[in-house]
Amino acid sequence: MSNVHGDFSDDVKILALGGGAQRKYLTLMRDDIERILIDEAVIEKRLDSMAVEIERDFPVGPMVVIILLKGALVFAADLLRRIPRPLEIECLNVASYHGGRESSGKVDFLDRHFPEVKGQHVLLLDDILDTGRTLHAVSERLLEEGAVAVHTAVLLAKDKERAEHVSADHVGFEIGDEFVVGYGLDYNGKYRNLPYVGVLKRSAAN
Ligand code: XMP
Repeated sequence: MSNVHGDFSDDVKILALGGGAQRKYLTLMRDDIERILIDEAVIEKRLDSMAVEIERDFPVGPMVVIILLKGALVFAADLLRRIPRPLEIECLNVASYHGGRESSGKVDFLDRHFPEVKGQHVLLLDDILDTGRTLHAVSERLLEEGAVAVHTAVLLAKDKERAEHVSADHVGFEIGDEFVVGYGLDYNGKYRNLPYVGVLKRSAAN
């Protein structure tokens, strides 16, 4: 008789093994984390109140949401399911980090097509406000493309001086000026699926 896992690739085997394997891989990633800064339960609670704040402050009528990929993906998925109004979701691929721990200082728009925002109120979602270059560049571009107003929300904002004069209308948490991963944020493409925000060990970044 054939083994039920026998014909599958390694990835499928991991899924077939269920929760135990999932915990093992989360634990492996946990070893690279110096400390957990914001745990899952705290994030969930803050998203409840953020959604209420956004719903209260955003003008009545259509909402076009722009999600900045890939970092804001997890934040957006959890936040938007708490906003009780019809909305349209668009994604934008921008890059300023190119994989490392320091902003390159330049924001690149990677998509061939820009979402249609003319005449719309836009809610722009990003994972983290750091130098401010990304939020500034994307907000400017949205206004150039004819958006009536750009409302901004970020999960995290670093408490530091910004390269651009910009602030977010809604901030989940203010954090210190340190490199964080998890809950959508990555280092070299890793750690986005950690359910919390944590500080990466220096040794894991080499
Ligand atoms: P700026 O500097 O433009 O940064 O405000 C926004 C983008 O830079 C990335 N970023 C980080 N990514 N840990 C990360 O994983 C961090 O601590 C961090 N700080 C900035 C992020 O993609 C964000 O959208």
